[in-house]
Amino acid sequence: MADLGLLVLLACVGVSQALNNGVALTPPMGFLDWERFRCNTDCVNDPDNCISEKLFMKMADIIAEEGYRELGYEYIGIDDCWPSKSRDADGNLVADPERFPNGILGLSEYVHSRGLKLGIYEDVGTKTCAGYPGSQDYIKQDAETFAKWELDLLKFDGCNTDPNRSAIHFPLMSQSLNATGRPILYTCEWWSGDQTQHSHYTRNSEYCNSWRTFNDLEDSWPSVLGVIQHYAKNAGDFISVSGPGSINDPDELIIGDFSLSYDQEKTQFGMWAMFAAPLYISADLRTMRPEAKSILQNRGVIAINQDPLVKGANMIKEIQNVQVWLKPLVKPESYAVAFFNPNSDGTPTRMSLTLAYITLTNQNGYNDTNVFDDVYKPSMYKPSGQFNVTVNPTGIVLVKAMPL
Ligand SMILES: *[C@@H]1O[C@H](CO)[C@@H](O)[C@H](O)[C@H]1NC(C)=O
Ligand SMILES: *[C@@H]1O[C@H](CO)[C@@H](O)[C@H](O)[C@H]1NC(C)=O
Repeated sequence: MADLGLLVLLACVGVSQALNNGVALTPPMGFLDWERFRCNTDCVNDPDNCISEKLFMKMADIIAEEGYRELGYEYIGIDDCWPSKSRDADGNLVADPERFPNGILGLSEYVHSRGLKLGIYEDVGTKTCAGYPGSQDYIKQDAETFAKWELDLLKFDGCNTDPNRSAIHFPLMSQSLNATGRPILYTCEWWSGDQTQHSHYTRNSEYCNSWRTFNDLEDSWPSVLGVIQHYAKNAGDFISVSGPGSINDPDELIIGDFSLSYDQEKTQFGMWAMFAAPLYISADLRTMRPEAKSILQNRGVIAINQDPLVKGANMIKEIQNVQVWLKPLVKPESYAVAFFNPNSDGTPTRMSLTLAYITLTNQNGYNDTNVFDDVYKPSMYKPSGQFNVTVNPTGIVLVKAMPL
């Protein structure tokens, strides 16, 4: 358990420049449709998979009934393609009436009744990325609409604008959401500016609760690997702005989709936990394979992701090509350690090292737990003792090291 005094201290001094709206104090968790369901609006021929209130109600039901909600999954996120193609006569956004017959407020009430929160998508420019009405020229009005609809999260995209406008309009939406008085998690896809500069991320952190760090995730292993290699480079040192209310977002989880092996699914979940990333499942929860579900519901990994310090991991070493990542946890001198093997040459990589070599130097030693094991098997290690690790190709070993 985190020490309360420490938490209060963190809240006061830890991240003075993060957006101060009281949300996303740990990485948000939930469901987001985009990667898996895209812009499928064909409810005539594909009624069970099209972007409609039915889909989100069903996902909310499963999150609430199949053990996800109790583990922290709480946001049901609607991505692009939900609105009508045009605003109403007063300039208000309206949901597509065929696909959302009860409107967003109706869906919001349903999702809240299940003990969950509802998120929506809009765009800072003239149109959304998929061509629906954007918020440019309507920012205040749209913020008020979102509050009226009792929404809890806004994903604000960055298509169809220019850098000069977006530099004004992303902060304006931040202020407009604040002015509604409703705490709404604000995630902005503010791509303009030099993403190799640290100032890009401090600016995001000042106005937004979270922001994307890299390309849209596709349903493929190379896509997941690309994110991990991007974090390994850490251009602009975005990792250091990670903290309560200030969340780096490498995009959705594709665990339970079509492309990843069991080891690769563990790698995505483990590394996203290490990154202190949002855990947005973008898969069909109705047909989730049991082993994928067991990964998504692994309490030990979720606890690392939700650690109240919200520090992102840094890659500190490469040993025989295996990356060693360290994430500081809230308890002093405790860490999550990931050994990630990017090799795909068919045989597990075996390593023997000391904890001191990977900078774990507490003289009393550590209780180390292999987090992905079903059963906790804590074992004690001194910094100078030998520590053996075997990592499968494209796989991960995730260890929690608690000082004795
Ligand atoms: C609005 O901003 C102020 C000042 O940072 C903050 O105290 C308040 O909690 C914010 N309110 C909402 C609803 O975001
Ligand atoms: C942005 O503003 C600068 C300075 O006023 C100007 O030189 C530039 O052309 C503008 N860019 C766009 C895309 O409008």
